[in-house]
Amino acid sequence: MSLRDLILGLGHRGRSIEEDPTRVGEDAFSDVADVYDELMATVPYENWVDYVQRILQRWYAHPKDVLDLCCGTGAIGWELQKRGYNVIGADLSERMVGGCYRRAPALAAAVMDATRSALRPGSFDMVVCLYDSLNYITDPDGLQATFEGMYEALRPGGVVVFDMNTLRALRVGLFTQSNTNTAEPLKYIWRSTWDESRRLCKVDMQFVRSGPDEPNSFTETHYERGYETEEVRAMLKKAGLRSLAVYEAYSFREPNRLTDRVYHLACKDPMR
Ligand SMILES: C[S@@+](CC[C@H](N)C(=O)[O-])C[C@H]1O[C@@H](n2cnc3c(N)ncnc32)[C@H](O)[C@@H]1O
Repeated sequence: MSLRDLILGLGHRGRSIEEDPTRVGEDAFSDVADVYDELMATVPYENWVDYVQRILQRWYAHPKDVLDLCCGTGAIGWELQKRGYNVIGADLSERMVGGCYRRAPALAAAVMDATRSALRPGSFDMVVCLYDSLNYITDPDGLQATFEGMYEALRPGGVVVFDMNTLRALRVGLFTQSNTNTAEPLKYIWRSTWDESRRLCKVDMQFVRSGPDEPNSFTETHYERGYETEEVRAMLKKAGLRSLAVYEAYSFREPNRLTDRVYHLACKDPMR
């Protein structure tokens, strides 16, 4: 399976954010890409992949060819590849894909907009998409198109595993955080605001690196949209994907009103 065989054309961004307010946040993961791995140094990616494997085991799924959609710098895809899966990564941000090649030169990854999939149909047994990447798709039509792209990319019987921040997590300001009272050389202050009518969480991020030279700083704004679980299930169904389970993250419990993150499992029905 080579990247050239699988990616039929590069996704394109279409109209700019100014022209099209439904595409807010597409310029995220620009400067943040350069510090992403440093920021995520304590994220337990290995445990997350353990959990994905437990879900697969529970549902008797044995994927081999895997698409890590919204792969970022490849932490999930690389962990899966080390465990014997054939993985291809795809992400909208060129700079995140650059980070992916730095982390794992052996992991093939391409720049692609998930909402305009350019993948050869029927190429994968599993699409995995983790770390609230789908919340970054702030236009519901874009999320619908993403599920349709996943459907096309999967072989019959293939599965989709993805996580999402819940509406609750975004409403309560999960992203308002800072590390200014730590010894980390890279300091950050993030402030989130919630727009209930658009279900949009806007996160203004400020970074300062202190060192022997002048401190250097940058800012970036990220947006995540909150989706109701039933809304997501309806989109999956419309795309031809059968929702098999929704779990409170890292467990096999049903989500409740305090759940911050959910995992979805869906499949492309072999009989459809
Ligand atoms: C929070 S990061 C997660 C990255 C990676 N999955 C991880 O676990 O570290 C979200 C990623 O989603 C990507 N992303 C956002 N919108 C996208 C889109 N429309 N198509 C492809 N990737 C997208 C971003 O560029 C970013 O790399």
